[in-house]
Amino acid sequence: MSVEEAKLRAAKAAVNEVSDGSILGLGTGSTVEYFAKLLGEAVKRGLRVEVVPTSYHSVQMAIENGLKLTPLELVDHIDLVVDGADEVDPSLNMIKGRGAALAKEKVVASMAERRVYVVSYDKLVEKLGVSKPLPVEVLPFAYRYAMKTLSRMGCKPELRMAGRFKDGPLVTDNGNFILDCYFNGIDDPQRLEVEVKRIPGVVEVGLFCGLADVVYVGKPDGVDVLRRVK
Ligand code: 5RP
Repeated sequence: MSVEEAKLRAAKAAVNEVSDGSILGLGTGSTVEYFAKLLGEAVKRGLRVEVVPTSYHSVQMAIENGLKLTPLELVDHIDLVVDGADEVDPSLNMIKGRGAALAKEKVVASMAERRVYVVSYDKLVEKLGVSKPLPVEVLPFAYRYAMKTLSRMGCKPELRMAGRFKDGPLVTDNGNFILDCYFNGIDDPQRLEVEVKRIPGVVEVGLFCGLADVVYVGKPDGVDVLRRVK
């Protein structure tokens, strides 16, 4: 079974979490794309839901799938967030931000009553930051200072470039840059999250510790449900 099928399985499991009349934070990324499509089908069958986006990508997904959008600024309460992740460790700490939406994703997750993450089996790791970098969103004018400070914390930071359609750095939905920080494994994610956030110029760090309530893991033989021990 392909990784794409595993993503679809995880997304299907998360759709059952959405109750009628709820305000839902819609995450970002390819796994959430499957979820948004399935949610759109449920809405056509009569489910009522308002969607709070975490990025321009999730705005697009909502529009494409006929989901009613509500801006974050207009809500005081979010019932449920469904989002993806890049890595998940056994304590359900996560690395997020490959899609550069980490800042709004973390605000929406922090406001939500229940936080559900959908991943394929390849996202599970024993230790965060061994094979993938930790994304850190920084103010553009502070990026070199932040890079130097992050290097002293034991990683190799790289400025993320935009790629095919723009020269120069990638610019986030918030007008900032992303530093991809290569650690040889992160021993204490909670501590690192606090330490990186303290660097002047850092907007947000892609460590999501203690936020996931449930992670649905799509696998070849089904879906595993991992719940945070409180
Ligand atoms: C975006 C994210 C995504 O949720 C994360 O990168 C997972 O994406 P995908 O489902 O495409 O693997 O954190 O900032």
